[in-house]
Amino acid sequence: MPWQTGRVDLDSGAGLLHRLTSYVPNREWDVPGDDPRVRHDLVPNDPETRPPPMKGYSDGLPVLALPRDLPDPGVPATAVLAGVGSPAQPLDAAQLGRVLFLGAGVVRTAEHNGRRFLFRASGSAGARFPLEVYASTRGVAGVPDGVHWYDAAQHALVQVAPAATGAVTTLVVTGVPWRTGWRYAERGWRHLYWDAGTLLSQLSAVAASAGVAPRLRSLFPDAAVRELVGADGVHEHPLALLSLGDGEPAIGPTGQAVLGELPPVELPLCTAAQRAGERDGIGAPRPEAAALSDFPPSDSLDEVVRRRGSQRRMDRSRTLPRPLLEWPMAAALRGVEVPHWVAVHGVDDVAPGLYRWPDLSTPLRAADLRDELLRICLDQSLAADAAYVVIAATPLSTLDDRSYRDAQLAAGLVEGRLHLAAYALGASASGMTFLDSEVPGLLGEPDDLATLLFTCVGVSEYASRAGGGPGAPVEVRPVVPRLGGS
Ligand SMILES: Cc1cc2nc3c(=O)[nH]c(=O)nc-3n(C[C@H](O)[C@H](O)[C@H](O)COP(=O)(O)O)c2cc1C
Repeated sequence: MPWQTGRVDLDSGAGLLHRLTSYVPNREWDVPGDDPRVRHDLVPNDPETRPPPMKGYSDGLPVLALPRDLPDPGVPATAVLAGVGSPAQPLDAAQLGRVLFLGAGVVRTAEHNGRRFLFRASGSAGARFPLEVYASTRGVAGVPDGVHWYDAAQHALVQVAPAATGAVTTLVVTGVPWRTGWRYAERGWRHLYWDAGTLLSQLSAVAASAGVAPRLRSLFPDAAVRELVGADGVHEHPLALLSLGDGEPAIGPTGQAVLGELPPVELPLCTAAQRAGERDGIGAPRPEAAALSDFPPSDSLDEVVRRRGSQRRMDRSRTLPRPLLEWPMAAALRGVEVPHWVAVHGVDDVAPGLYRWPDLSTPLRAADLRDELLRICLDQSLAADAAYVVIAATPLSTLDDRSYRDAQLAAGLVEGRLHLAAYALGASASGMTFLDSEVPGLLGEPDDLATLLFTCVGVSEYASRAGGGPGAPVEVRPVVPRLGGS
């Protein structure tokens, strides 16, 4: 994993974006900082400028409806998360559709203020769902070789470009900065990588459960991949590749891709941060980490993914047993080098306080941290009501413009895996944002710390409705998270 390489410049690229999008206590999160390089002319959450939930394509492109019966191999979620191999299933249109749906498919819908909102199978900061997924297919039974955009609403593939060069079917995850920037402004660029990691944790797990080796690459030739899928590098950026098997990824463009339609709103700071990290070559996939020696029983991965949602309210009066901290953490951090800490509020046989994973024997601080976490997480009660809160952070000086992206993506992967592990074992979880300036003090680390992401894990206060299948999302009434201490 090449994330520990260099030094970002705090006055350009990813370093500048990180600095100018860091939350501090004396400025509201939706007020832009006092710097001309962030846009001051955009009104966050303006209903008039709300971007559509997906990319648009004009009629006339070849469309392939994917089978709506998903072939569930019935593998326990915990086995997949532990890294235990699964029997191979044929990679046909139905299995490819299962992988895409259980990562990016529409599983729930909700109505709010007369508008319909689509919720996908994996979470997204603020439910902005700013990602697109393309499949560059090679030899998938029932799917012509080509570059296809996944239409998550219709559970269909829309062919946007001719077949690529390369041998192995590869999913390309892209991000649309404005779709999340509409609410979070330039900080949304960080969210693209958090959300992509979260999505890729599910895409990878679902592929692995079908006996297909998921090979995740965060280093790839950006310009070629942009050309491959028709991402213009301003309104849409390629974020990561997931090949479905070993071998040379099918990512060499052989013709013009259809660009598709996105609102023409640019966040120049995001464009510059993305550009600064662009490279020409392709990296090795993330190395396969050793499997865990044991895994507890659980429902199948497919059932757990359907059940997953972000818990909006946790019951702070109830604790989790110690194995529900140890096992999800061990599974979520398999092969991940980004440092993690755990703030324990209510875990049996673990004293409340702050720990540097994997050492749970000696707290860095033995204390009730609920009030501190509440303050650092912008008064969001989940951070105080959780049984424990997982914190990913790394010194900024260890990152360059590319490995900064990798670190954010890795934090998202951990967040997504923690979710699946928690739901597999009867607990619940939610991603969580934070006041950057306050985290070094919490962790006792120098100020040069890039805080990446928080994940809350705890006991749910209510039962969520499982999501629906392709073309049949379940209608839900959104539960609003609490603000302030409970
Ligand atoms: C990276 C990430 C960060 C998140 N941050 C927060 C947060 O700060 N506060 C919160 O209440 N929920 C947070 N969430 C949960 C999202 O609001 C949730 O995923 C979204 O509403 C979609 O709902 P679902 O996860 O139930 O499908 C976060 C989720 C992700 C993936």
